[in-house]
Amino acid sequence: MLEFKVEKTSSECKARTGTLKLNHGEVKTPIFMPVGTRASVRAMTCDELKEIGSQIILGNTYHLYLRPGEEIMREAGGLNKFMNWDKPILTDSGGFQVFSLSRQRKITEEGVHFRSHIDGSKHFISPEKSIDIQNFLGSDIMMAFDECVPYPASYDYTKDSMLRTLRWLERCIKHNKNDNQALFGIIQGGMYKDLRKYSAEKTTAFDLSGFSIGGLSVGEPKDMMVELLHYTTQFMPINKPRYLMGVGSPDYLFEAVEAGVDMADCVLPTRIARNGTAISYNGKLVLKNAKYRKDFRPIDENCSCYACKNHSRAYIRHLISVNEILAARLLTIHNLYFLLDLMKNIRSSIEEDRFLEYKKEFYDSYGY
Ligand code: GUN
Ligand code: ZN
Repeated sequence: MLEFKVEKTSSECKARTGTLKLNHGEVKTPIFMPVGTRASVRAMTCDELKEIGSQIILGNTYHLYLRPGEEIMREAGGLNKFMNWDKPILTDSGGFQVFSLSRQRKITEEGVHFRSHIDGSKHFISPEKSIDIQNFLGSDIMMAFDECVPYPASYDYTKDSMLRTLRWLERCIKHNKNDNQALFGIIQGGMYKDLRKYSAEKTTAFDLSGFSIGGLSVGEPKDMMVELLHYTTQFMPINKPRYLMGVGSPDYLFEAVEAGVDMADCVLPTRIARNGTAISYNGKLVLKNAKYRKDFRPIDENCSCYACKNHSRAYIRHLISVNEILAARLLTIHNLYFLLDLMKNIRSSIEEDRFLEYKKEFYDSYGY
């Protein structure tokens, strides 16, 4: 099931708040979704995820199909049960990972033939196969199988790919056996406005629970991405959730919300945590730097996460320099808490109709 209600819309821009009702619970939007590619948000237990306020997490069809594989996921009774996460899950279709991870792949009308990035074994994922996998994973929200075109790409290639993604969407809809799981179509069209418009209009013409914006934040300049994002959301229905795929740096989240996006995800906070970087309201802190050696303040004095309440920059820097896994855990907790807290503040600012003012305040303190 999926019900979506827009609650408050900004008087100055397209930003809005809403509530998403899903099989495993409610989600307040706009929301950031931590990524749990392989049935785990790296370094985090499910209790920790809940403690920092995660309302919904992501899983990846491509990875879970390769490992642990279909048989184990079926016998486990789906992804929620397997990882003991009882809140909502959104699964990506594999239509991005297969293009970004697999070295050898061949796209045909039927689907994608590829070799596993793990052991080189041969596999095939089609729209039908992707839906089958997402059906037995049992996610609250499934993504249609698509192709995310790299940047840059020619007009002709982008057009052919976008049209094929539309045909694949139709096959996903036909094949879906579980009406209880919501299905989102993905808008593509690369960096070409006319293709974006066409894709948005055709995709949103299907009676689906929500719509995703794919193929952005793939290496194009920020102003190009922001312009295409605003351009795309104008063709999307007001009363359905809009999901911008693969975006998670604070400035991009503000731009996304301003353009009317309700959901976003990214590996950024968890990935940079494992590299020793923290994000905070005052910008990025590269904690492995020597300047934090004797800095006994928390990462962020105003942050209420476990890491900031209990530990200093100096301590975390020490953990990084001696390669203790606790460093990655503490920084992951902090970075995810920060983004979830930021989205909460963004929601409040929309409710109080001062979103653009809050955006400016944040940009000033973050140092954009
Ligand atoms: N994640 C980030 N971008 C994309 C996209 O275009 N398609 C899919 N399926 N996943 C994504
Ligand atoms: Zn913190």
